[in-house]
Amino acid sequence: NNKGAGGQMGRDQFRSRLGFIFAAAGSAIGLGNIWRFPYMTGASGGGAFVLMYLAIVLVVGVSLLLVEFSIGRHGKANAVDSYAKINKSFAWIGYLGVFTSFLLISYYSVVGGWTIFYTFKSATGSLASVPADQMGNFFGGFISKPLMPLFYHFLFIALTVWIVANGISGGIEKYTKALMPLLFVMLLILLVRAITLPGAMKGVAWYLKPDFSKLTGSTVVAACGQVFFSLSLGLSGMVTYASYLSKDENLISNSFIVAMADTLIAIIAGFVIFPTIFAFGGEPSGGPGLVFISLPQIFTKMPLGSVFAFIFFLLLVIAALTSSISIMEVCITFFTEKVKWSRLKASLFYGAVCFLLGVPVSLSFGMWGDVKILGKGIFDLFDYFCSNISLPLSGLACAILVGWFWGKDKALAEVTNNGTIQSSVAGLWFFTVKYIIPIVLGIIFLQAIGILNV
Ligand code: PFF
Repeated sequence: NNKGAGGQMGRDQFRSRLGFIFAAAGSAIGLGNIWRFPYMTGASGGGAFVLMYLAIVLVVGVSLLLVEFSIGRHGKANAVDSYAKINKSFAWIGYLGVFTSFLLISYYSVVGGWTIFYTFKSATGSLASVPADQMGNFFGGFISKPLMPLFYHFLFIALTVWIVANGISGGIEKYTKALMPLLFVMLLILLVRAITLPGAMKGVAWYLKPDFSKLTGSTVVAACGQVFFSLSLGLSGMVTYASYLSKDENLISNSFIVAMADTLIAIIAGFVIFPTIFAFGGEPSGGPGLVFISLPQIFTKMPLGSVFAFIFFLLLVIAALTSSISIMEVCITFFTEKVKWSRLKASLFYGAVCFLLGVPVSLSFGMWGDVKILGKGIFDLFDYFCSNISLPLSGLACAILVGWFWGKDKALAEVTNNGTIQSSVAGLWFFTVKYIIPIVLGIIFLQAIGILNV
C-alpha cells in the first residue's frame, strides 16, 4: 500500500510522483470523458460547445486544479479541515463537497452499472448479435427495465465500496498505470475505424465547425459544468488526493498534465462518437444513451468486434472506478477523520445511501420517466444540481478563498514549494484566481441558477 488515500491509520503519502499523477488523472478520466462529454456536445450543438469547453478548461480548469492541489497539500487533512486551515468560514465548501459526493455517485454508478452490463454482454457475445440499427432499442430496452439496471448499479457501488473499504486504492493505482494507456490505445483504434466509416466526415465537420448561433447562456453553463465534472473539480476530490501529497511535488506541472490528458481523451472520444453517429444516421442530440448506442455500432463494423467491445467496456469500467473511488474518498476521509468512524463503517454507510439514492435515478430512465421535479427528470435534476450548481459554486468559493483570504505570498509559497520551483506562470495563475475566475464563474453561476438569462 503505497498511497495514503488507502491507508488505515495516520496519514500516508504518495510515494512517487507518478503515483499521484495517475491517481489524479484516474479521478479525472472516466465516464465524464467518454460518456458525458459526447452527449453534452451532442445536445449543445457541436463545435461551438467544444470551443467554449476548451476555453473554460484553459482559463478556469487548469487554474482551479492548481487551487485544489495547493489547498489539499497545505491542509494535509480532510476537505473540511483543509479549507478551515486557511479560513474557518470556508469550511462549508468541504461540507458541500461531502453532500454533493452522495448525489454525484448515485447517478455516476447508475451509468457505471450500464458499462458493466455492456462488458458482460460483449463477453457473452450477445451484444455482437444485435444488428447495428437495433442498438438504440437494445439500450432503451435495458435501461427502462426496473430491476436489471439496479442490479448493475448495485454491482458498481459494491465494487467501489470494496476497493475503498479495503484501502487498496494504492493497489488499483498500480494497475491503472498500465490500463490507462491501454484505454488510450483502444480509443485510437476506435478513432481510426470511426473516421473511415462511410459518411463519417459529416460527423467530423459537425464536431469541428462551430455554429455560433448555438452559443447561448445555457450552452456556456453546460460547458462549464462539463469542465468541472470532467476535471473532478469543485467536489474537493482533488483537495483530498493532494492532502496525501509530499511537499516536494511540482503542483504546477501536475495540474497541467492532468488537465491536458483529461481534455485529450474527451476530444478524441468526440472524434469516435460523432462520425459514427452520422455514419449510422443517428441524432447527435440523443442524450445520455449516445455512447451506449454508437460505440457498439462501431464494433459491429470491426473484425473481432466482440473482443474489442469486451476490452473497451472493461477498460471503461476501470476508468469509471478510478473516478468513483475519488468521489467516495471525499466522504470517507471526512467520516474517518471528522466523525471518527472506521473506514469500513464509513464505506458501508456511504454505499448503502448511494445505492438508495440511485434507485430513483435509475427508474427515471423507465417507469418513473414522467416524474418531473422543477421541470426536470430525476437524473437530469441530480446532474444539473451537481455539475452546474454545486461544483462551480465550490470552485468559485475556492478561488475567492485563495485569491482574497489566503493571499499571494502564502499561495505562491505553496505552489512553488517555498520558492524552490521557478515558474513564470505562478504569478499569472494567482491573478487569474483572484480576479478572472470569480468574474467568469460568478456570471456563469448566475446564469445557472436562473438569475441571469442570456
Ligand atoms: N471526473 C470524473 C469523470 O470525468 O468521469 C467524474 C468525477 C470524479 C467528478 C471526481 C467529480 C469528482 F470529484
